[in-house]
Amino acid sequence: MNSKWIEDLSAMRESYSSSEMHEAVTSEDPFMIFHQWFSEAVKASTGEANAMTLATAGKDGKPSARIVLLKLYGTDGFVFFTNYQSKKGIQIEENPSGALCFWWPEVIRQVRIEGIITRISKQDSDEYFNSRPLGSKLGAHASQQSKPVASRRELEDKMQQLSEQYQLSDPPRPDNWGGYILNPEYFEFWQGQENRLHDRFIFKKDTSGWKKYLLAP
Ligand SMILES: Cc1cc2nc3c(=O)[nH]c(=O)nc-3n(C[C@H](O)[C@H](O)[C@H](O)COP(=O)(O)O)c2cc1C
Repeated sequence: MNSKWIEDLSAMRESYSSSEMHEAVTSEDPFMIFHQWFSEAVKASTGEANAMTLATAGKDGKPSARIVLLKLYGTDGFVFFTNYQSKKGIQIEENPSGALCFWWPEVIRQVRIEGIITRISKQDSDEYFNSRPLGSKLGAHASQQSKPVASRRELEDKMQQLSEQYQLSDPPRPDNWGGYILNPEYFEFWQGQENRLHDRFIFKKDTSGWKKYLLAP
């Protein structure tokens, strides 16, 4: 291989095998399949099964991806919490289309979800914010997420000042912090199989409901 690479990983590969076809994938309801796969991932996982990649792009069309934690899900969509003035927040306000991706290596499964992202209600954001530990509440106030800071010290001083300010009562939710919900239009369920002949099922939403298709791996 060409010496321009720092490392050549071309021999690094795993072979996957699992039971031929999964019962769950015979369902016609993508939310129920997600629910089953998520529950199985939580049981099998040694890490945070609710960690998901969130991809967004603002009006310049340049995509940006980062991990966020899934905190609620149901047939309305998938909820995460963040700073509304962060990079992702600005991109979502400019362009509400977004994508989520879960990778659960213990069960060799990937789930991709695409749809439209909107803010959840202030009441729902308050309810979640109020359930967080004090340190996380103070952190949401201290961090102007995705903005440059002069030093780590500046953040620590801000935390100290906030913990003195809120000795007697917990801080309220900052206006620029809350939840977003991604309402799905598309799901893909991917199950690793032998010889790279993986199972891929997608669901697309149209006016009559969800349509299921099998894709080549
Ligand atoms: C495991 C993990 C979980 C994270 N969970 C969240 C989260 O729920 N909300 C959030 O705003 N950032 C979370 N982050 C940090 C984000 O990945 C990201 O650094 C931050 O949101 C700023 O992204 P942005 O500049 O694209 O807006 C998490 C990071 C990791 C590694």
